[in-house]
Amino acid sequence: EARTRRDTDAAPTQRPPTALDPQPRFTRPRAHVPAHPEDYRGRVTTPIDATTTTAWAELSAHKSGFTPDLRGWFAADPGRVERLTFDLADLRVDLSKNLVDDGILASLVALAEQTGVAERYAAMLSGEKINTTENRAVLHTALRRPAGATPALHVDGQDIDHDVQEVLEAMAAFAERVRSGEWTGVTGKKVKTVVNIGIGGSDLGPVMIYEALLPYADAGIQARFVSNIDPFDLADTTKDLDPETTLFIVASKTFTTLETLTNARLARDWLWAGLQSAGAIDGSDEQKTDAVAHHFVAVSTALDKVAAFGIDTANAFGFWDWVGGRYSVDSAIGLSLVITLGPDAFRELLAGFHAVDEHVASTPLAENVPVLMGLLNVWHTNFLGAQSHAVLPYAQQLHRFAAYLQQLTMESNGKSVRWDGSPVTTDTGEVFWGEPGTNGQHAFYQLIHQGTRLIPADFIAFVNPAYPLADDGRDVHGLFLANFLAQTKALAFGKTAEEVEAEGTTGPLVAARTFAGNRPTTSIFAPALTPRVLGELVALYEHITFTQGVIWGINSFDQWGVELGKQLALQIAPAIEGDEDAVAAQDASTKALLDYYRAHR
Ligand code: F6P
Repeated sequence: EARTRRDTDAAPTQRPPTALDPQPRFTRPRAHVPAHPEDYRGRVTTPIDATTTTAWAELSAHKSGFTPDLRGWFAADPGRVERLTFDLADLRVDLSKNLVDDGILASLVALAEQTGVAERYAAMLSGEKINTTENRAVLHTALRRPAGATPALHVDGQDIDHDVQEVLEAMAAFAERVRSGEWTGVTGKKVKTVVNIGIGGSDLGPVMIYEALLPYADAGIQARFVSNIDPFDLADTTKDLDPETTLFIVASKTFTTLETLTNARLARDWLWAGLQSAGAIDGSDEQKTDAVAHHFVAVSTALDKVAAFGIDTANAFGFWDWVGGRYSVDSAIGLSLVITLGPDAFRELLAGFHAVDEHVASTPLAENVPVLMGLLNVWHTNFLGAQSHAVLPYAQQLHRFAAYLQQLTMESNGKSVRWDGSPVTTDTGEVFWGEPGTNGQHAFYQLIHQGTRLIPADFIAFVNPAYPLADDGRDVHGLFLANFLAQTKALAFGKTAEEVEAEGTTGPLVAARTFAGNRPTTSIFAPALTPRVLGELVALYEHITFTQGVIWGINSFDQWGVELGKQLALQIAPAIEGDEDAVAAQDASTKALLDYYRAHR
C-alpha cells in the first residue's frame, strides 16, 4: 500500500526516509565507458536501469489488465481525494484525478527508491559533478538559498552562498539606480524600456516571468524581449522605442550564441543611428563608446567576452557554469525582472523556489509532490503510452508558461542515451505543450476529451485575480474558475451513453456526445499569482523534470542535441551568400532549396 501523508505515523520508531538520506543499497558500480573524446572514467557512474527493478516488474503487472475507473474509484473510496491532495508551500496539488490506485502509487514510489532518486538529488545538492558530459556541478538550487543559509555551501573551494549573494546585491543596487532614474541614458533621460537580448534559457524564463508578474511592474519601466535571429524580431521590438530611454541587457551564459550576439550588434547599430539622427551623439568613436556604456549592460559567465564586445565589465553581472541555461532565470539572467519588478519581488520569487527545494530535500518520497508528479509522468508515459503532456494555466498572465516548460522539460529529458553513454532502456521525454484556458478549450481540448490519444494534463489556477472585474454583477474570474473546475471534472468522469440518452439524444449522435472519461489531470490551485507562488510553480516543474531524468538514467543538464544544427547553419551560411563551392557541397534537397532561394530573391 502506498505510504501517504497519514500513515507516516504508522511506524513511529522508524522515521520515513527523506530525499537527503543516504541510500547505501543503491550504490552504483563504476562504469567502464569506452573510447570517448574526454576521459570519463572515474567520474561516471552507471545509472540503475529502471526496467530491471522489481518496482518496474510490479508496474508491468499493474498495467496488464489495467482498467482505469475514476468514477468507480471515487465512488468506492471517499478518502481518495484527501489522500492524494498535498500542500506544497502555497500550492494545493490535487493528484486524485490521475490514473493510479494505491498499489500503483506504492510501486511508483518504490521505483523512485530503487533508481536512487534521493541519492542523485543529494549528489546534486552537494555540488557533485552530475552533469558528466560537461563535467559540471548542477547547483541552480544554490541561487535561491536565503542569505545566511546553513550549513554553508562550498564547492571546489568556492563559497557559493557568498558569491550568489554578492551578485544579487549588485543586481539590486543597479536596478535601484535604473528604477529611481539615477542611471540615465547618454542624454540624461531616465530609462523607460529595458530590452533583454537573449535566447533559450536567457530569454524564456525572463519573458515568462515578466508577463506573469506584469501587475508588479511598478517603476514605470517596461521590458521587451528579443530572441530570434529573424531580423523582424529586433526591428519590430525596437520600432517604436526611443534610443535615449532604452537600456539593452545582453544576456548570454556563453556570450558566443550567434542569435544573441548578432541581435546585440544590430541593437548597437540601432542605438547609434537613433542617437545620431537625434543629434545626441556626433558619431565619433568616443561618443559611440560612451553611448554603449550608458545603454548596454550584460549578463554572462564569460566576462572576458563581454569586454571584447565593448561592454564595460563594470556593467556586467556574472553567474557560473554550474547554472544550466534553462535553470538560470533566478541567476543574473533575471536582471530585467529585478529592474522592472523590483529587488523585493525578485527576492520573493527566489523564496518561492527555495520553499519547494526545501520540500524536496526534506520530504519522504511518498509525500514528495514533485517526485510524485514525476512518477505519474513515468507511469503515463512508459506504461500507459502517453506521448505528450499538456500544461493548461487558467491565467492569461501565464501565456508563455508552456513555452518556458518546453525548454525546461524537453531540452532536459529529450535524450536517447543515459548519463554513462549507453542507450536508454525505455521511452523518455514527453512533448510538453499548452495554452491558457479558456482559449485552449475553444481550440484543442476536443482532442483531449474525445481523441484516441492519452494526454495527461496539468490545470493551474489562482483563487484571486489580478483584476477583479464584474460583468453585470457577476465576478468574471469566478466564471473563469468554473471552467477550470468543469474541465477536469469532464475529463475525469466523462459522460455515459445513458446520460446522453437521458437528455433526449438518440441515434448516432449518442456516441458522438459520449465522453469516455478517465483522462488524467492534476489540479494546481494557489491563492494568487504572486512572485513567491510563481517561484514555487517553476521549481515544482524543475524537480519533476529531475525525477523523470533520474528514473530514465538521463543527464538532464546537457543539450548536445542542439549542436548539429548550429554547426550546419554555419556551413550553409556561405552557400546562402553565393559561395558556389558551399552550394555544391550540399545534399540534393538542400541544394534544390538553395536554388529556389536564389531564384526568388
Ligand atoms: O539551445 C541551446 C542553448 O545552449 C540553451 O541551453 C541555452 O539556454 C541557450 O542556448 C542560450 O545560450 P546562451 O545563454 O549561452 O546564449
